[in-house]
Amino acid sequence: MNSIRREPLSSDPATAKASVTWHVDEVPWVPLTGVFVDKSGYKPLTDTTYTGNAYSLELASVGPGGSSPTHVEPHAHLFYVLSGHGEVTVGDEVTEVTAGSVSPISAGVPHSFRNLGDSALEMLVVYHPPLARNKPETTQLRATVHAIRHEAQRVVSVELRPQPGSTFPAFDAGAHIDLHLPNGMIRSYSLCNSSDDKDRYVIGVLNVEESRGGSRYVHEQLRVGAQIEISRPRSNFPLHENAVHTVLIAGGVGITPILSMARRLCALGRSVELLYCARSRREAAFVEEIEALGHEVSWHFDDEQGERVDLVQFLATRRRDAHFYACGPTPMLDDFERHGRELGLAHVYLERFVARDAPGETTKRYRVELSRSGRSLEVAPGKTLLQTLLDAGVQVPHSCTQGVCGACKTRVLSGEPDHRDSVLSASERESNAVMTVCVSGCKGESLVLDL
Ligand code: FES
Repeated sequence: MNSIRREPLSSDPATAKASVTWHVDEVPWVPLTGVFVDKSGYKPLTDTTYTGNAYSLELASVGPGGSSPTHVEPHAHLFYVLSGHGEVTVGDEVTEVTAGSVSPISAGVPHSFRNLGDSALEMLVVYHPPLARNKPETTQLRATVHAIRHEAQRVVSVELRPQPGSTFPAFDAGAHIDLHLPNGMIRSYSLCNSSDDKDRYVIGVLNVEESRGGSRYVHEQLRVGAQIEISRPRSNFPLHENAVHTVLIAGGVGITPILSMARRLCALGRSVELLYCARSRREAAFVEEIEALGHEVSWHFDDEQGERVDLVQFLATRRRDAHFYACGPTPMLDDFERHGRELGLAHVYLERFVARDAPGETTKRYRVELSRSGRSLEVAPGKTLLQTLLDAGVQVPHSCTQGVCGACKTRVLSGEPDHRDSVLSASERESNAVMTVCVSGCKGESLVLDL
C-alpha cells in the first residue's frame, strides 16, 4: 500500500516551499538532526537506547541512457535527486525528476529510475530511523517503597507510594504492575489493595524457591525508601462487577488479585464468596484483611485437611449462573478450568503466574515482516521472536518473558501464530489477530506484525 502525503511545515507561502515534511506510510519525515551512514546502505541501529532522529543514507546513480532494475524495498524511503535528469516509475506511475526532486517510496512498492539526460542521474537515498518509529509510549512511573510487611511464610507485601504531590493512575481490581527492579529485572505482580486507593499500590510477593531473581531480590535486597520504576497498571483479569453472584478462588499467593476483587465487590455490596487454599495456615497471607471484609470465606489448608481441595465438589455446589475467578498454582488452575468446562459453567476466568507451555525459542526458521517500518527479519532456531525483535533494535514492551503478563501483546496482520502463552483468551487465540511475542512463534513460513 502506497501512502504518501506532503505537508508544508509553515502556513506562510513564502517559506512553505523550503519547509516541507513528507509522510510516507503515515510516518512523518521530520527535519534531519543527524545521520547514520553505512556503506551497505540501510542498517538497523542496534543500540537500544537510541531514540534519536538520525537517518541512514545511501548514494545511487544511473548512467546516461541507463535504467535501474525494478526494485522493491521492505523499508519506506526517499530519493533526493542530486543531479541529472530522468524519470521514476513507482508502481504504475511515471514522474519526471531533475536535481532537487524528491521521490518518496512506500515499503513494498516496486520502483525504478531511467536516465533521460546525458550525465549521471545521481540520488541520495534516505531511510527513516528505525527506532524513532518504534519508540513505545513512556509508561513508567516512579514510586517509593513505603513499607514492606511480612504477610505469611515466604510472603511479603510491598506498599508503593507516588512521588510527593502526585497520585498513581487508577486501576481495576485484578490488575497488575511491572516492577523494574534495580538489578535490571522486570517482574509483574498483582495489586491487592483497594482499587479506590489513589495514593498507593500494594503487591504481595512470594519468595519462590525456583526464583529467576525477581522475588529473591524483593525479599532480600529491596528496602523501604528505595525509588523504583513501575509500569502503569494493566489488566488481563477483568472483574465483571454486576454478576448475580461471584465465587473467588485463590491458591497461595494467588490471593493478590482475588483480594482486590473481593474488596471491590464488598465495596459495591455485591454477593461474593471466597475459597482460599494454602498448604498451611502459616502460608496464608492477608488473613486478617480478608476476615475484616466480612463476606463468606471457605478456608482450605492442605496440611490440616490432609489433601488438596476437591474443586469439582466445590464448583458443583455453587449456582451455575455465578461468575467464577481463580488465581493460584498451575495444577489448581488446570483443575479449575477442566471442571468448569465439564460442569458447563458459563463464566469462568483465571489468571496464571507461571507459563503453561515450553519457552518460545523456535526450532524452525521463519520470517517476520514489520508493517509499520517495512522491515523484514528472520527468526532463527534457538531464538524467540522477542529476542529477534530486540536484537534488531525494535522496541517492544515486555515484562515476564514467559507469556503470562500480556505486556508484549502484538497485533498480527497476517500469518498463523503458534500460541504458547497463558494469557490470551480463547477468542484472542482463535482470531490469530494478536500474539505474545515473548513465547509464541509461527506455524507457517512467515508473520506480518503491526510494528
Ligand atoms: S512479556 Fe509477558 S506475556 Fe510476553
